[in-house]
Amino acid sequence: MRRLAHLSDLHFGRTDPDVVEGLVTELNRDRPDLVVVSGDFTMRARTVEYEAARDFLARLDAPWIAVPGNHDISPFHLVQRFLRPFSRYRRYIAPRTQPTFLDDEIGIVCLNTARTWAPETDWSQGKIRRSQIARAEARLAAMPEHVFRIVVGHHPFMPPPWDEEARLVGRADLALAAFRRQGVGLTLAGHLHRHYARFAEVDAEGDTVDRGVMRGRRGRLLAVQAGSATSTRLRGSEPNAYNRIVIADGAATVTVRLWHGNGWRDAAATA
Ligand SMILES: [Fe+2]
Ligand SMILES: [Fe+2]
Repeated sequence: MRRLAHLSDLHFGRTDPDVVEGLVTELNRDRPDLVVVSGDFTMRARTVEYEAARDFLARLDAPWIAVPGNHDISPFHLVQRFLRPFSRYRRYIAPRTQPTFLDDEIGIVCLNTARTWAPETDWSQGKIRRSQIARAEARLAAMPEHVFRIVVGHHPFMPPPWDEEARLVGRADLALAAFRRQGVGLTLAGHLHRHYARFAEVDAEGDTVDRGVMRGRRGRLLAVQAGSATSTRLRGSEPNAYNRIVIADGAATVTVRLWHGNGWRDAAATA
């Protein structure tokens, strides 16, 4: 069995300090095997924001793995943005923007979906290059057969159940096809600041849930989104949230944890 905490969109520079403290306390009490952070550590990629993100990670007892988000590239320093877009991320968070993790139960492949520019006015959207898909597929294929496979990126691989037209990470269809060829059971992402989970294929077992518990398993890919763990940039009425994930017997069980002003509770307990 492996227990993960999936955090996203922390956005240091605009966080609620009570939520940050509450999250550190909860994670160190809960002691997951691994914390997975699916990007947007900062608001504007400022040094002071990266320092706060680094300090947060340093306080976690659990090991962690992460990818950058679109907010982790500077919108101000265009020379830096184009020439060394992830230099601060590499310095303060991790030297690698696409790390992998492998133990005897789970294997994780991370994709950096943030882009330095795009041929459109909105540069916040993400994309996966074909070469990234090929490399991710090779990494997944090299993992031992019995390992539960997980892919992490910042931008969503599947749309929210309430908005089928929502913008996805570029080449999401090609990426999902590759993941399914490799038996990926779970994708973890963020960016929308809304939590939901849904299967990549629709069938009679139930398509979507946006609250409570959902199970994914090898061969049936569950796309999981995390809300914003600590940011005050919340969408709609959704509070700060993160996902608690248990992987056992080839299946992943996802429980959404919501902030309630003085602590975290299961979403299902309050729905
Ligand atoms: Fe975000
Ligand atoms: Fe984002």
